[in-house]
Amino acid sequence: MRFDRVLWVHVVVLLGLALLVAHDSHAEGVDAPEHRVEPAPARRAELINMVRQDCGSCHGLTLNGGLGPALLPETLAGKSDDELVFTVMRGRAGTAMAGWSRFVNDAEAEWIVARLKDGFPPVATHVEAIR
Ligand code: HEC
Repeated sequence: MRFDRVLWVHVVVLLGLALLVAHDSHAEGVDAPEHRVEPAPARRAELINMVRQDCGSCHGLTLNGGLGPALLPETLAGKSDDELVFTVMRGRAGTAMAGWSRFVNDAEAEWIVARLKDGFPPVATHVEAIR
């Protein structure tokens, strides 16, 4: 069971990397200095909607807290990026916070955490992102 889960995470991460490589070859190469990889625009739109809708169901539609704590720049300031990314990917044992590694890869989780710390963008219809 544990082995299956580890294997599954590896498969997802590898698939994610393959997708990123594929995307990169025809992305316009926006390279924000603070992240390793910037998801492609259409993927950014999906991630924004996922955070607003799925994460928002617990963290609040405006991310100002609900069942889960607020995910606002002022509440996340000073917390380690690595720990926050780990929480997004693996969840927190014994709490309602599940891991999202089936849905996002490490680079995407890093991008989400960086955006949360900056002030999360509005829903993707407002973003230049949709193809
Ligand atoms: C089912 C409810 C639920 C959903 C859905 C959920 N979370 Fe959480 N999240 C929580 C709870 C509860 C905690 C606090 C866990 C604890 O007590 O440490 C938490 C903690 C966190 C933390 C750590 C915050 C801190 O200040 O340390 C981050 C970051 C986070 N969640 C991000 C996300 C993201 C991103 C998503 C969507 C991909 C998400 N969460 C979806 C319930 C949820």
